[in-house]
Amino acid sequence: MKKIISFSGKGGVGKSTLLVLMLKYLLDKFKDVDILVIDADPDANIGDIIGKEIHFKETIGGKMAEFKQKIQKRLIPLDVSKDQIVESEVFDSLIETDQFDILEMGRSEGEGCYCSINNYLKRIIDILAKNYDFVLIDAPAGLEYFSRKTGQKVTDLVIVSDPSKMGIHTMKRILEITKEVDLQFENIWILGNRFPENSIRDILEKEVLSIKEDHVKLLGFIDNSDEISRMNIVGENLLQLPTETKAYKTAKQLFAEII
Ligand SMILES: Nc1ncnc2c1ncn2[C@@H]1O[C@H](COP(=O)(O)OP(=O)(O)OP(=O)(O)O)[C@@H](O)[C@H]1O
Ligand SMILES: [Mg+2]
Repeated sequence: MKKIISFSGKGGVGKSTLLVLMLKYLLDKFKDVDILVIDADPDANIGDIIGKEIHFKETIGGKMAEFKQKIQKRLIPLDVSKDQIVESEVFDSLIETDQFDILEMGRSEGEGCYCSINNYLKRIIDILAKNYDFVLIDAPAGLEYFSRKTGQKVTDLVIVSDPSKMGIHTMKRILEITKEVDLQFENIWILGNRFPENSIRDILEKEVLSIKEDHVKLLGFIDNSDEISRMNIVGENLLQLPTETKAYKTAKQLFAEII
């Protein structure tokens, strides 16, 4: 089985949190699988959520900055292409833990914006994905970097929405972008996060029903969890969320639809 799963949605809706819950689910379910987490959000916080400090020097952005300095000091021949640089830095930037690997994109310092790094995301997925059973991507708001068609395809796009007008609006906007730039996913899953168990859920459900595309499905709802809030505030590793926590039990059931 090979899945490349990307999480997107409005800022703050719970993308990183749900990615980590999926990571926990995969680690609980499978004994021996190779998992890569790509943190492509410039305001990166996967490390924070799993209690792992990641220094700028360890990120793709950090490595690129180091490389630029070397070029300026003429320690590297000028005819090396940016593509070659990225390729060599990617493997060097893999952060290995006992159970999975992390690739932290980080920011590019100085001129240009972080997009210059994220332009390489697609390429990075191509380079790395073949070595893993599961690749989980925490993506920044846009989806532009999926638009260049290359080998490795993101199989599942999970669009997270919270119970807010803007959350749902962004979800719909992301769906529009996937059509505009003709992005092909095997499945697009809409996941309601922090939804109370009442008729508010019907609103998102209706929105998804009105989309009428076979590959766009409502995955379900996860409720607001006091335990997740607590762990976040005190800075505990979310991978250690007790398995009997209701939000995790629900997440497990929902994720079983994907994997
Ligand atoms: N189901 C939940 N129950 C309680 N708290 C939650 C839940 N989901 C997310 N949160 C909390 O909401 C906040 C935002 O979550 P998270 O950082 O995962 O969102 P995000 O979409 O990744 O944000 P960003 O766009 O800034 O990267 C965090 O404090 C997180 O602990
Ligand atoms: Mg995040």
